[in-house]
Amino acid sequence: MNVDPIAAMGDDIDSWTTIMFLYHSALKKVNTKLEILNDEFKHVHKYNPIEYFKSRIKTPESIVKKLKRSGLESTIINMVDHVNDIAGIRLVCSFTSDIYRLAEMIGKQNDLTVVTVKDYIKNPKPSGYKSYHMLVTVPIFLTEGVVDTKVEIQIRTIAMDFWASLEHKIYYKFEGNAPDYISRELRDCAEMVSMLDARMLRLNEAVLKAKAEQDAAQKNE
Ligand code: GTP
Ligand code: MG
Repeated sequence: MNVDPIAAMGDDIDSWTTIMFLYHSALKKVNTKLEILNDEFKHVHKYNPIEYFKSRIKTPESIVKKLKRSGLESTIINMVDHVNDIAGIRLVCSFTSDIYRLAEMIGKQNDLTVVTVKDYIKNPKPSGYKSYHMLVTVPIFLTEGVVDTKVEIQIRTIAMDFWASLEHKIYYKFEGNAPDYISRELRDCAEMVSMLDARMLRLNEAVLKAKAEQDAAQKNE
């Protein structure tokens, strides 16, 4: 059984440093795994499912803000238990089919544990937000024991990412109180993004089919 070094922690600077070290290490580990997955996929299928990805550690200010919003005191235990996105990675791919392919590949990694999955593509948020979220844990080995550390992975298409970035900026401008017609416009744009994604996916399938036919015809010449 794993020892739990977190349970013994206080709210001193030393504990904070250890915790942040854990999240940084977890992010590094998951980043490397994703790079390897992408490289291997490229090697086998001559195609890379990940266009780009970025990772970040939540700032202390946003951690405290999130705890406050949930009515919780700013303690290390609360932060570890209730803030799931202290370490976060965003994977951006070309097509919706890549999202599910990547999610499956991530799920098959033996040293990652998938804690929860939220499919906001099948069930978009009321805002119109679409993405595939996975909360995973990765074991980090400290001298006092192993800590399963949480990393939030968001997977989306380039188009979904475009929408989410703009919506995020607008949301912050209005501090969550955007006029109705702006929220409506954003939901409309989210619809357009979904249509564009569906169309690009069909186009890609047509491209692959046409290319295969061309190659087969050339072989027979
Ligand atoms: P948070 O408290 O916001 O983290 O929500 P949650 O714990 O219910 O998790 P959820 O999986 O719903 O969303 C977590 C993250 O997804 C957020 O921090 C954002 O990065 C992103 N997200 C969720 N909803 C929206 C949205 O409506 N618009 C945008 N732009 N991003 C969103
Ligand atoms: Mg968040």
